[in-house]
Amino acid sequence: MKTVFSGLKPSGDMTIGNYLGAMKHWPDQQGSARTIFFVPNAHAITVRQDPVQLKKRTYDLVAWLLTVGLDPEKSIILVQSRVSAHAEMCWILDNYVTMGELSRMTEYKDKSQKLGPEGQLVGLFNYPVLMAADILLYSSNEVPVGEDQRQHIELARTIAERFNKLYGETFVLPVATMPASGARIKRLDDPSKKMSKSDHPDSFIMLQEPLDSIKAKFKKAVTDSDNTIKYDKTLKPAVSNLLEIYSGFSEESIDVIVDRYTNKGYGELKTDLGELVVEKLSTLQLAFNKIRADEQNLERVISEGSEKAAEIANKKLSEVKEKLGLL
Ligand code: AMP
Ligand code: TRP
Repeated sequence: MKTVFSGLKPSGDMTIGNYLGAMKHWPDQQGSARTIFFVPNAHAITVRQDPVQLKKRTYDLVAWLLTVGLDPEKSIILVQSRVSAHAEMCWILDNYVTMGELSRMTEYKDKSQKLGPEGQLVGLFNYPVLMAADILLYSSNEVPVGEDQRQHIELARTIAERFNKLYGETFVLPVATMPASGARIKRLDDPSKKMSKSDHPDSFIMLQEPLDSIKAKFKKAVTDSDNTIKYDKTLKPAVSNLLEIYSGFSEESIDVIVDRYTNKGYGELKTDLGELVVEKLSTLQLAFNKIRADEQNLERVISEGSEKAAEIANKKLSEVKEKLGLL
């Protein structure tokens, strides 16, 4: 049976980009594959975090995983800091990757440029290796993520191949899987950049967005020059982005939506999209609030899931140590 594995950092409020590009798809293979999802909270400390907030957001994320339909009876749900094998495996894998390879990671280049010398921490540089450890510990075949994470999954694959060549078959080679649409949701005010929670509030919609600001944000969203509704990422990036968001929330294909809006203008599309997202997010927020209120249950899910995960992870770690002659 194949293994599907992924995670979301608890480093800020989630946007509809995180949802449509990643989390929404995670329950898809529940029941037909071994599904493991986690909160990479050790990844979050590569930039400064307020400890109280970090703890709160970790519980928030576990609650979101349950809200989108992950079932602890069918999937393993864990928190990274509860399974020490992740950090140990990271140290081992550090010796099978070069500074040059890590220097080429786009996310590091972007972040380190934004943060300046003070923020260029070794942990931030090493982030993709911890990620490789996460993935390889569970013999993951598929890693469902948004487009921005593809390079990191490819590096994990390179590390796995290199290790296997030296010590014999040890790691499964992972592949990144991406939704047909929604893998890269763009900013509402600038469709050339990906939607991200660290930008201007008008550029994104959070999963916990107050319902009354959603319609206004879509109304303000930039559009392209002529007024025809067409899906063309190069010529009409803004409208194509709105269509992807529409399709992600309505579960209809983009073609069906485009057909419906032939001879209608951007204004109508934006109004309808606002209403659709309000309806979907209000249902999700209601479910989330209920699940989030029972922190004891969340703690139980985390403890039980992390215990199951540790069993799998420790086995892989022992196999690797044995191969390396580490007592
Ligand atoms: P992050 O917020 O960077 O921890 O990303 C969590 C997950 O959401 C990853 O799988 C990302 O690839 C995905 N993601 C983040 N931003 C977007 C976006 N704008 N569009 C689609 N997927 C995204
Ligand atoms: N880096 C990922 C992100 O920003 C989060 C993450 C950490 C992850 N470890 C992972 C995702 C392993 C998939 C698999 O979204």
